[in-house]
Amino acid sequence: MVLSPADKTNVKAVWDKIGTNGAAYGTEALDRMFLSFPTTKTYFPHFDLSHGSAQVQGHGKKVADALANAAAHVDDLPGALSTLSDLHAHKLRVDPVNFKLLSHCLLVTLAAHHPAEFTPAVHASLDKFLASVSTVLTSKYR
Ligand code: HEM
Repeated sequence: MVLSPADKTNVKAVWDKIGTNGAAYGTEALDRMFLSFPTTKTYFPHFDLSHGSAQVQGHGKKVADALANAAAHVDDLPGALSTLSDLHAHKLRVDPVNFKLLSHCLLVTLAAHHPAEFTPAVHASLDKFLASVSTVLTSKYR
């Protein structure tokens, strides 16, 4: 997956727009994922997954911060995500299909909050970005 210069511009513009809403959007995306795709809950047996729980909010912020860092280092995603890649592949062993589910929920969340900016071209760039992040996070499985 290669992000074109236009994709990178679109991704950075969206993250600029997100500003301080990252934690809220990350939390909403997780909420959507747990409700729409309940099998994803099996990875979080130690979490209180009810709507608005402190654990989901805390995790939403971590996911959002990781994505903001990735957007800031879009030319070196393997480097920016190396530690997280080790965690998801070696320790958590999250089945790769789940990354598509979370990516979908992140896209829906962004579209719901930024309808004007969420043009088809921006949608495509964000999808490519999230697919690239997911590829890195699942690249050390074997
Ligand atoms: C865009 C994709 C993803 C990103 C950016 C991401 C990011 C993160 C981050 C930043 C952490 C916290 C690491 C730490 O505390 O040091 C984490 C932990 C975790 N992630 Fe992911 N993640 C992604 C996808 C997924 C998916 C799809 C699942 C499963 C459905 C998942 C399950 C977990 C679990 C179970 C933890 C450990 C939670 C805990 O015990 O605190 N992740 N992830």
